[in-house]
Amino acid sequence: MAGGVPATVVQDKIRINAIMLEGKVALITGAASGIGEETARLFVEHGAFVVIVDVQDDLGNRVAETIGADKVSYRHCDVRDEKQVEEAVSYTVEKYGKLDILFSNAGILGPLTGILDLDIDTFDDIMATNVRGMAAMIKHAARAMVARNTRGSIICTGSVASSIGGTGPHGYTASKHAVIGLVRGTSSELGAHGIRVNCVSPYGVATPLVCRAYNLEPSEVEANSYSLSNLKGIVLKARHIAESVLFLASDESAYISGQNLAVDGGFTVATTRVSSLTN
Ligand SMILES: NC(=O)c1ccc[n+]([C@@H]2O[C@H](COP(=O)([O-])OP(=O)(O)OC[C@H]3O[C@@H](n4cnc5c(N)ncnc54)[C@H](O)[C@@H]3O)[C@@H](O)[C@H]2O)c1
Repeated sequence: MAGGVPATVVQDKIRINAIMLEGKVALITGAASGIGEETARLFVEHGAFVVIVDVQDDLGNRVAETIGADKVSYRHCDVRDEKQVEEAVSYTVEKYGKLDILFSNAGILGPLTGILDLDIDTFDDIMATNVRGMAAMIKHAARAMVARNTRGSIICTGSVASSIGGTGPHGYTASKHAVIGLVRGTSSELGAHGIRVNCVSPYGVATPLVCRAYNLEPSEVEANSYSLSNLKGIVLKARHIAESVLFLASDESAYISGQNLAVDGGFTVATTRVSSLTN
């Protein structure tokens, strides 16, 4: 190549611009805000029909309206209530005829207290949302997929707190470790039906969940995450998580199941301490 853009870069560009979810039907929980909302937008850009569910009805309806009623609909669903979970799945299948993708993403952080001040009722609520809700969603989505012989893709949202301690409150860390167990266990069962189950585990993103918990502006959250991050020269955005979910939802990841894809710039597997000593 004498000049201009190298061929490999051109190929990457073509692949990224390809429509990856044409005609697929997706259900996304916790999509009124943050990572779920960003993923709903990206899925629609890639040709999917999306049902977004959440407990924040005004926000959820607004997200659906701004994306377009022909492609997205909003449905109230508290993932802690199995009946509402079952109804959300039924609604999706009745409206669009099938369910190809579940992005089980709704989650809460809980108060930033230590173990000495742990409130057990709050702990239960975190587990009910982040684990029980996730299990109920997988159960009913998988039933809909199995009943229609759909080779579906299920993606759950974990966290860096799925792999290491000390990055969040204890209830949150316990719940996010449990998500990995759910993903591994259900992938081992659902593989027989051609259904893949994976996890995406973000590092700190400036969403309302984090901004509210730490009482910080998005720019302050991003500055904090950046200063503690391993990978430099890039600021983690919700879009980076959505792109990873898109990959796991699409046929690009056709043989990947039971995995935890950390979108953390190496935060959970590398330390900069030794390299900073040797530099
Ligand atoms: N933002 C981060 O830094 C970060 C890092 C790692 C993991 N995560 C995970 O990403 C997921 C999305 O969080 P986010 O950062 O986009 O936060 P967010 O607060 O913007 O979005 C979470 C959404 O979940 C919804 N939700 C909460 N409880 C619910 C329930 N019982 N039923 C239905 N919906 C419910 C909320 O209303 C909200 O719209 C969560 O599972 C969170 O634990 C976030």
